[in-house]
Amino acid sequence: MCEFQLQLCGSTSHCLIKLGEDMANRVIVYGGRGALGSKCVQHFKSKGWWVASVDIAANEEANENIIVKLTESFTEQAGQVTADVAQLLGESKVDAILCVAGGWAGGNCSSKDFFKNSDLMWKQSVWTSTISSHLAARHLKSGGLLTLAGAKAAQSGTGGMVGYGMAKAAIHQLCQSLAAKNSGMPAGAAAVAILPVTLDTPMNRKFMPDADYSSWTPLEYIAEMFFGWATGENRPASGSLMQLLTSGGETQAVAAQ
Ligand SMILES: NC(=O)c1ccc[n+]([C@@H]2O[C@H](COP(=O)([O-])OP(=O)(O)OC[C@H]3O[C@@H](n4cnc5c(N)ncnc54)[C@H](O)[C@@H]3O)[C@@H](O)[C@H]2O)c1
Repeated sequence: MCEFQLQLCGSTSHCLIKLGEDMANRVIVYGGRGALGSKCVQHFKSKGWWVASVDIAANEEANENIIVKLTESFTEQAGQVTADVAQLLGESKVDAILCVAGGWAGGNCSSKDFFKNSDLMWKQSVWTSTISSHLAARHLKSGGLLTLAGAKAAQSGTGGMVGYGMAKAAIHQLCQSLAAKNSGMPAGAAAVAILPVTLDTPMNRKFMPDADYSSWTPLEYIAEMFFGWATGENRPASGSLMQLLTSGGETQAVAAQ
């Protein structure tokens, strides 16, 4: 430890920790308390990355947590998260922002829950993705990675889950807009959406106990794929909508045409 650092903070171990934190790669996992989010937090931490989770509840495994306050106002929530992340990061930039927040609710347009569920889908998927894209503009490094979570089903009509389909289709559009000129994304940064069919989550196993799990996408596959993309390995072009196709226990990420 050099004399200069010792004089600055008076403690060798503290300086070493600070130095280590400053050198680590950084990722924000938006929805870091969810099934896929928790797996991403674990995976990136296991690789020595500094991980911040943004969710409505804390993920104790993350280095830092931003707790999102629930509100009926999008601008209020967006303002809160933007301010909290700015306070946490200061001038530091992150290597990746993984938005894996979302949810699912069914309902066709005759359903008594149609409005309620459509509202929820918008909040869980579109609000979070919109805020993530602004966080990317402000805090992502040049050449960094933003991922968004769409859904393969939303590439065409989703009669029995109209609100869900609308919200996920909006995310596909957002991803393509972020890849377009003048989107506000940092230079060389990529926005890539995943379009899962069914993820192998504890909730899905609970509610669909008799399903064929070999056709569900393992969370580890996605966490590893994100890590590869974040470190420049096989990263798809910005604006890509990557369908996650799983069959017989094998998953392929295939760009939608
Ligand atoms: N599970 C599936 O089979 C499946 C299929 C297709 C698409 N997807 C999408 O993949 C993503 C990950 O799925 P999952 O199963 O891990 O979801 P999940 O429900 O386990 O986790 C979603 C997380 O998002 C958080 N969240 C919701 N609203 C938020 C808000 N306003 N602010 C901050 N956090 C908020 C929730 O608290 C939760 O922790 C989601 O976008 C989901 O819609 C999932």
